[in-house]
Amino acid sequence: MSTVVAQAPAKINLWLSVGTPGDDGFHPLASVFQALSLGDEVRATKAEPGAGISLSVEGEGASATPVDSSNLAWAAAELMANALGVPPDVHLHLSKRIPVAGGMAGGSADAAATLVACDALWRGGLTRDQLMALGAALGSDVPFCLHGGTAVGTGRGDRLTAVLARGEFHWVIALAEGGLSTPAVYRECDRLRGVDDVRQPELSDAVMAALRVGDAALLGAALGNDLQAPALSLRPQLRQLLDAGLDAGALGALVSGSGPTCVFLAAGREGALDIAVSLSGSGLCRAVTCTTGPAPGARVVSRG
Ligand code: C5P
Repeated sequence: MSTVVAQAPAKINLWLSVGTPGDDGFHPLASVFQALSLGDEVRATKAEPGAGISLSVEGEGASATPVDSSNLAWAAAELMANALGVPPDVHLHLSKRIPVAGGMAGGSADAAATLVACDALWRGGLTRDQLMALGAALGSDVPFCLHGGTAVGTGRGDRLTAVLARGEFHWVIALAEGGLSTPAVYRECDRLRGVDDVRQPELSDAVMAALRVGDAALLGAALGNDLQAPALSLRPQLRQLLDAGLDAGALGALVSGSGPTCVFLAAGREGALDIAVSLSGSGLCRAVTCTTGPAPGARVVSRG
């Protein structure tokens, strides 16, 4: 075997409650993640002994994606080689559909797909728990990209519990111009709250109940994201985009994670198309995609 191809999903946060940061600077979270059918693909190909890691990128935001060790996929291959005690001789080719710096865990999905692909390429045979531990060392969202489905995340968002979610949800994703830096959005969240506002993250009973019965209208009304206010503070135009989606019939609208991508919940496939057409013509966003959730976590799709 000289090539392994793996896919990993984008994530959205149906709920993101952010607490006051701890001594490590990280914010404790209570989050409900959903993995989407929109995802990235990583092709890992064995390289000559001593060649080391190399990386190439095509697709959405390819020109904005680094092709050196600052790419999370590169770091994932390095970490996996160390964990398995093999030389890190591999070429990674990333086919991207998830927006870069969009609040949808694009970099984390690439890292998750790379872990799974390199584990197969180098015949590591790591357990799910071992993969999760390596993922958490790379970034807070990598474990969920490995996990997939719908899950509650606590801690930094990396301690996961699967959630029973009935049915399939139709989402419209609107890609805004440019990215937003995750640390900058967390800093803005702290600044808006002020030092006296000390809080613990909390889960939403309404979100959990809506998922249990698979009711899109209930879920749309229950969606929530503490990082939306800071993202809107840094990028006020996003408010118009959210309102345009609601005017087009979305059951709920919110900034995805730290933004600036916005997500809209539709009643069904037809409704999603209507929202997508309306947003495409609004001039408020750069691109629009229809997708569904939940979707599986990172997995090998072919080897050869
Ligand atoms: O873990 P990850 O690399 O995705 O986090 C990027 C940055 O986002 C962190 O360096 C930190 O500034 C911020 N962050 C946070 N609290 C979290 C997750 C991320 O403050 N729970």
